[in-house]
Amino acid sequence: MNKYNIRNAVEEDFLSIAEIAAYCPPMVTERNSIYHIFTKFFRTTSLVIEHENKKIIGFLLGFISQDDPQEGYIHLLCVMPPWRNKGLAKGLVEEFLDILRKEGCQRVHLITSPGNKKALSFYEKMEFKISNEGEEIVINGVKTSKNYNGPGEHKLICTKLLD
Ligand SMILES: CC(C)(COP(=O)(O)OP(=O)(O)OC[C@H]1O[C@@H](n2cnc3c(N)ncnc32)[C@H](O)[C@@H]1OP(=O)(O)O)[C@@H](O)C(=O)NCCC(=O)NCCS
Repeated sequence: MNKYNIRNAVEEDFLSIAEIAAYCPPMVTERNSIYHIFTKFFRTTSLVIEHENKKIIGFLLGFISQDDPQEGYIHLLCVMPPWRNKGLAKGLVEEFLDILRKEGCQRVHLITSPGNKKALSFYEKMEFKISNEGEEIVINGVKTSKNYNGPGEHKLICTKLLD
């Protein structure tokens, strides 16, 4: 990890984040304004990872719930394809979990799509557990929360308890 540096996002990072996100299907690409909001108002819980040349090669956008500060959420996590399988996403998630622990969070949640096998394997390795809500439907052999994000948008909900 010496060649790589994880730091909190700053507002100026939002276009770099948008650029990276476009290269990371099957993850859904957001409007640029969403990246701008995270880098302006959720900097404590939004991270980027830079190569030694300072180029951003991955990011994690997350937040702590205003309604229940014990709950954290990972909105988007992405590492550029050439830098995958080097432990960078793991580093981003571990840093994020450390921040959440310091802020007194007890749980962290995320959702992913049943077809995103890479993300499923990754989060399983990171010891997230399935925590689906409501009616379940099996998609591609994976149990999901039916219509979680709207009609036909079945999602897998994952949660990790923080020590
Ligand atoms: C999922 C993603 C973030 C993983 O990033 P990464 O930097 O390659 O992951 P890491 O190298 O940190 O891997 C950490 C662990 O997960 C495992 N893992 C990562 N990708 C995997 C894959 N495709 N299949 C199986 N295991 C995988 C690694 O083997 C590693 O385990 P180890 O510590 O025992 O070696 C990356 O593939 C990505 O950006 N995908 C597109 C966007 C996306 O789907 N994001 C997640 C949903 S928001």
